[in-house]
Amino acid sequence: MDCRGARRRHTLPRMILAVLLTAGASGQTQPAKPAQKQATPWWQHAIVYEIYPRSFQDTKGDGVGDIPGIIQRLGYLQQLGVNAIWLTPIYPSPLKDFGYDISNYEAIDPMYGTMADFDHLLAAARAHHIRVMMDMVLNHTSDQSAWFKESRSSRNNPKRAWYIWRDGKGPGIPPNNWESAFGGSAWTYDPTTKQWYYHAFLAAQPDLNWRNPEVQKAMFDACRFWLNKGVAGFRLDAVPNLFEDPKLRDEQVLPGKNAYGDPNLNPDRTEDLPEVHDVMRSLRKLVDSYQGDRVLIGETYLPNIKDQLAWYGGARHDELQLPMDMQVGMINKLDASLFREKIGQAETQLDGLMPLFVFDNHDNPRSWNRYGDGVHDQAIARIIATILLTTRSADLMYYGEEIGMTTTPPASLSQVRDPAAIRGWPAYKGRDGERTPMQWSSGRDAGFSTAATTWLPIPTSYKQVNVAVESAQPDSLLNWYKHLISMRSQIPALARGANIMVDRSDPNVLSYLRQVPGQTSAVLVAMNFTDQPHTVSYDLRDKGIKAATAHALLKDQGVSETVNLHHLTLPPFAVFIGEIQ
Ligand code: GLC
Repeated sequence: MDCRGARRRHTLPRMILAVLLTAGASGQTQPAKPAQKQATPWWQHAIVYEIYPRSFQDTKGDGVGDIPGIIQRLGYLQQLGVNAIWLTPIYPSPLKDFGYDISNYEAIDPMYGTMADFDHLLAAARAHHIRVMMDMVLNHTSDQSAWFKESRSSRNNPKRAWYIWRDGKGPGIPPNNWESAFGGSAWTYDPTTKQWYYHAFLAAQPDLNWRNPEVQKAMFDACRFWLNKGVAGFRLDAVPNLFEDPKLRDEQVLPGKNAYGDPNLNPDRTEDLPEVHDVMRSLRKLVDSYQGDRVLIGETYLPNIKDQLAWYGGARHDELQLPMDMQVGMINKLDASLFREKIGQAETQLDGLMPLFVFDNHDNPRSWNRYGDGVHDQAIARIIATILLTTRSADLMYYGEEIGMTTTPPASLSQVRDPAAIRGWPAYKGRDGERTPMQWSSGRDAGFSTAATTWLPIPTSYKQVNVAVESAQPDSLLNWYKHLISMRSQIPALARGANIMVDRSDPNVLSYLRQVPGQTSAVLVAMNFTDQPHTVSYDLRDKGIKAATAHALLKDQGVSETVNLHHLTLPPFAVFIGEIQ
């Protein structure tokens, strides 16, 4: 076994030097090779980087990102060290929900480029050792798709039963009390055929009827189309919504109102119905029939670890390889006990399967704002990155997270682009704030575009918060991410060691070991979650560890290079990652 990675001891500046020396100026360097060839599939330890294509890189000068822009930035992504990119939808779409309303599942929207551009992206990404994943919206189509146009044309059209049509309860009264995730009733009346259709999201996003086998066939054909092209798999949008109660019974009204002013409902008749697992199993069989370890990631916001295990297929492990674990990333406060509990559950209650941790995505305010206290935001962002990348997990990153982009909501309703915010304003400011253009440089349009105006404004922070500036700053957040990613691929304990919680009752410092079973060496990760210094003392003898000291692999300023495990002092919000031999 090659343990060189594990033996390296770096303080931050030395690590940066190492990264700069290996990365060079040309961007041609290969990503760090894992210390040992993994027998496990690539996605088990993957970092999947979510790209919101509209906001990544514009090459046409129209203020909207495009596929050639992604190709242009592959060198950056390779140097960062990500293994795959997930593109939010780039299919033809009327853009009522910015691509999550698809009108043709087997084409590229001209706004982003051509199919030839996409093929070029696949080849170029492969050359950079980066896999490409598509977003697959199974639950609904656009109301402008040919399928829905046919379906709505008459009650006896062959595609009528591809969607969910019902009579109302009376004039102007929908079939039941179900609500759209974007506010208001989930039913829209269609005067042509005098029936209502169901939409879990916008009226422009009618739900497909997954009880109809023709629907499953059509959607699986769409998946095959992209798998045949060579995509590495799919992020499955809104899968808990696939089935609804066939009797259309009302949902129970709960106390209080949601952000849109609608009554809160218990969603148990429109979400997580058991039938969805049959579809997931069939889809898994489909992707497994392809070579090259194709993967299914699920957009699954789940209340507990037991429900999460169900999405893997329970004991059979025959559904999604990586349902998103939002329980860790969405704790939304720096509470050491809660992080210990949730990371511990993922380690011990998922049947040994790999959790997929996510802090940031295109639907939630950025972690910078959800966790920052306004004073120690940089240090807190380093803590978030450390949790993401040093726990035993596959990980999703979201563009701009690595440079500390902040949520920048629209200043007024007239600037809002997100349909959810148009309805929810001002109580709900929507998702535009986390979708602003990537900040590449201090130049015009932050290096994102050359347009006079970009589709969403460039946040004013771009002069300091950008890739070019942070690449040159040894202690930047970007370099912190790069070190973590590089360490994770080089140090066996971080790549595949167990995640063992230590100091279980400390309310201020979160500490864990990463240890390859049976070894007496380990990596210790310790993070002070508070604005006061704290000293911790570890007794690790029951983990087979006799050493009294740990040597820094990566650490914040103010923490010693070699620390005494019986007396480790961490300044406010400081991180120490060290090797125990
Ligand atoms: C998912 C997407 C979100 C979209 C919704 C409807 O939650 O992540 O952006 O609005 O599904 O497709």
